[in-house]
Amino acid sequence: MECGFIAGGTTANKKYLVTGAAGFIGFHTTKRLLARGDTVVGYDNLVPYYPVEYKHARLKQLVGPPGFTFQRADLNESHFVGCNRE
Ligand SMILES: NC(=O)c1ccc[n+]([C@@H]2O[C@H](COP(=O)([O-])OP(=O)(O)OC[C@H]3O[C@@H](n4cnc5c(N)ncnc54)[C@H](O)[C@@H]3O)[C@@H](O)[C@H]2O)c1
Repeated sequence: MECGFIAGGTTANKKYLVTGAAGFIGFHTTKRLLARGDTVVGYDNLVPYYPVEYKHARLKQLVGPPGFTFQRADLNESHFVGCNRE
C-alpha cells in the first residue's frame, strides 16, 4: 500500500487503509478519497463511545458504490496488526 496526499490531485487511484472509518474524521477522509477515485479499505470496531447509530449511518453512505470495503475489527488485536506489541 502506497502513501499519498489527499489534498493533491496527482495521487488518485491508490488503495488506502483508513482506520476509524466509521468515525467523524475517518468517514470524511474516506468520502474524499472515494470521490477522487481511490480505493479504501475501512477498519472500525464501532466502539459505543457515542451512539453507534451515527457510525452505521456514515457507513451506509460509504457502502454501495465500488471502491469501499469495510471490516469490523479492533486494531488493538495483535494478531490483526500482525506485529509484536511488547
Ligand atoms: N474530530 C475532531 O475535531 C478532532 C480534532 C483533533 C483530534 N481528533 C482525534 O482524531 C481521532 C478521530 O477523531 P474522530 O472525531 O473521528 O473520532 P470518532 O470517535 O468519531 O472516530 C474514531 C473511530 O475509531 C473507531 N475506533 C476506536 N478504537 C478503535 C479500535 N481499537 N479499532 C478499530 N476502530 C477503533 C471508533 O469506533 C470510531 O468510529 C481521535 O483520536 C480524536 O481525538 C479529532
